[in-house]
Amino acid sequence: MALLELAGIHKTFEKGTVNENHVLRGLDLTINEGDFISVIGGNGAGKSTLLNSIAGLVTIDEGDIRLEGKSIRKDSVEKRAKAISRVFQDPRMGTATNLTIEENMAIAYRRGKKRSFFKNAVTDKERELFKSVLSELGLGLENRLKTDAAFLSGGQRQALTLSMATLVRPKVLLLDEHTAALDPKTSEMVMQLTNKIVKEQKLTSLMITHNMEHAITYGNRLVMLYHGKIVVDISGEEKKNLTVAQLMELFHKNSGQELTDDALVLG
Ligand SMILES: Nc1ncnc2c1ncn2[C@@H]1O[C@H](COP(=O)(O)OP(=O)(O)O)[C@@H](O)[C@H]1O
Ligand SMILES: [Mg+2]
Repeated sequence: MALLELAGIHKTFEKGTVNENHVLRGLDLTINEGDFISVIGGNGAGKSTLLNSIAGLVTIDEGDIRLEGKSIRKDSVEKRAKAISRVFQDPRMGTATNLTIEENMAIAYRRGKKRSFFKNAVTDKERELFKSVLSELGLGLENRLKTDAAFLSGGQRQALTLSMATLVRPKVLLLDEHTAALDPKTSEMVMQLTNKIVKEQKLTSLMITHNMEHAITYGNRLVMLYHGKIVVDISGEEKKNLTVAQLMELFHKNSGQELTDDALVLG
């Protein structure tokens, strides 16, 4: 079943100026319930703009975005956030550094709930839930609930952000190069945690990555963006059998760009 439909999306930045930039050019994408999609493409292809359009940070000029058949095009970022969670590249974006781990978790937990005043102290019941969720990460964060998020490493913060983004099961999880700012080992750790959470909660997810190994290994579907359109859409067995070399070849075929121009980065 189609969970999220993007139909004929156009976005131009700085319209009518010398910097006019037609980024999304009639993009169509139907995302099924349970799809875990890797999104790849060169720098400036429009990947982040696509995710920002879904989240509502970017207002599209043309086309429609439907969640479970209903248009969310005119909905605010806040309204969409009740169903759509996000994790960004920068570990500092996802957590409030002046708040403790449990306070961060509480904000995520109470999101969209009535009477969700943050000034209310974290309850014992909430604390137990947070502990059990955090212990799943295997990082010992469950024993540091009163620690300020500021004291966590980049990897720990991304893991915490992932837990927060999925604490209340989102209908759609958006990941924008969420492991790119981490060292290779930590990036693997966060990627594996991501996979575990997505599988366990049967989440529908769009994951932008510049890591070709990750794009191939994880998820059931892979799409390639070029000039604001989906130019490759591979799933099932075809995706499972894909090699990095074949992916590079596909990229070359669709963009005319060579591997060497650093458009894509190998993991
Ligand atoms: N808010 C914005 N205002 C103006 N230009 C933007 C904005 N966001 C993105 N762009 C431009 O749109 C193009 C696509 O950006 P982006 O979607 O971030 O690409 P990607 O994530 O694929 O690297 C880039 O040229 C970028 O500079
Ligand atoms: Mg981007």
